Amino acid sequence: MEKLALLNGIALRQKPFPKHPMIGIEEKKAVLEVLESGKLSTFIAAPGKHFLGGEKIREFERIVAEYHNVEYAVAFNSATAALHAAVVACGVQPGEEVITTPYTFTSTATCALMANAIPVFADICDDDYNIDPEDILKKISPLSKVIIPVHLFGNSAKMNQIIKIAKENNLKVIEDCAQSPGALYQGRKVGTIGDCGILSFTENKNITSGEGGMLITDNEEIAHISRLVRNHGEAIIAGQPRSYNSSILGWNYRMTEVDAAIGIEQFKKLDYFNTERIKLSEYLTNKINEIPGLKILPLAERNKSVYYVLPIEYDEELIGIKRDLFVKALVAEGISFGAGYAKPLYYSPIYHENKPFIYNYYTGNANYAPGSCPIAEEKHFKKLIITILCRPPADFEDMNDIIKAIKKVIEHKEELNRNVNN
Ligand SMILES: Cc1ncc(COP(=O)(O)O)c(C=O)c1O
Repeated sequence: MEKLALLNGIALRQKPFPKHPMIGIEEKKAVLEVLESGKLSTFIAAPGKHFLGGEKIREFERIVAEYHNVEYAVAFNSATAALHAAVVACGVQPGEEVITTPYTFTSTATCALMANAIPVFADICDDDYNIDPEDILKKISPLSKVIIPVHLFGNSAKMNQIIKIAKENNLKVIEDCAQSPGALYQGRKVGTIGDCGILSFTENKNITSGEGGMLITDNEEIAHISRLVRNHGEAIIAGQPRSYNSSILGWNYRMTEVDAAIGIEQFKKLDYFNTERIKLSEYLTNKINEIPGLKILPLAERNKSVYYVLPIEYDEELIGIKRDLFVKALVAEGISFGAGYAKPLYYSPIYHENKPFIYNYYTGNANYAPGSCPIAEEKHFKKLIITILCRPPADFEDMNDIIKAIKKVIEHKEELNRNVNN
């Protein structure tokens, strides 16, 4: 068999994987329409109808709200901005605590710091990479205000237990659905189970508007405050003359009409894109589960994952190759894989030598010591490998190349280990 690419052989995959995101004629036409109209934003940070943005923003918000069957959707220029607004809208005060997972993208936690609140990390579950309700219970303190579960990799966190804990402890729940638009938890759409949900439309997500995010909620107060945060904290007072009058601290988190135009067309394709992701991921799952040492964890009953990435459990002993070397060898074969996802967040300098100012006033006991979330660490540093390749327009032939490359690396393990050890 052909030599490994990492040992100067020829890479199994010669052509690049199909381009993502998929931008069609619909998005191009919609953008051109906006450009020709000359109305690129139309947001104004003062009372009046432009306080809530232009036509495309409102249409985008309407279709996202309808899809989720919720009362309100508020568009932002990123999910990070929407998360920040959600923390403010949930009434979190400086020095109070927001409980979240350390195994997520940085802004799931920094959104708390942006509001001068403190992230507290609860460990993840062994069976789904998402926040562990049992550990949330251990992390609750008199300062706790909000829980932010993340539906990581496209699959839902254990929402029934999380909502029960939140209710019993008078906490609000912000669902971070950046990686899971359209996913189901026990038959219910994620983002509609907590007090509000957040979507992301950045370029590598299931759908994109270039950059963008959305807050969805049935809570009028959360919708209202998040709109103020989005647009310089201006109050919307009907019939008032236009004047600048910041009622709360606000930012410019406004989405442009161009982004909204792309987002609308992409959102119409969300279910189709997700169905394709599921087909590709399930095809690959069946093949990967036949390989001793690799396993995809089964989904909980009545959950639907939308497979932002495919997470695979790696057994170093059974495979006989160090995990990071295995991933390096696969990447050399032209197959994009990652060893783990993002390092547990409490390893970042902002939780140690570069702590934000608010920590000078913090009276609680948030623990950022290495080792504080052992399951997240075990997954990240030892057990998990991920790929983002199960997404349209890739097809089964592309998936077959992933399997061929995995088999090629495993078949060459002696040679690989020998060369690396020498
Ligand atoms: C789980 C999670 N939360 C939040 C974000 C932030 O999204 P955005 O880039 O739209 O701010 C991301 C995106 O990378 C994410 O994956």
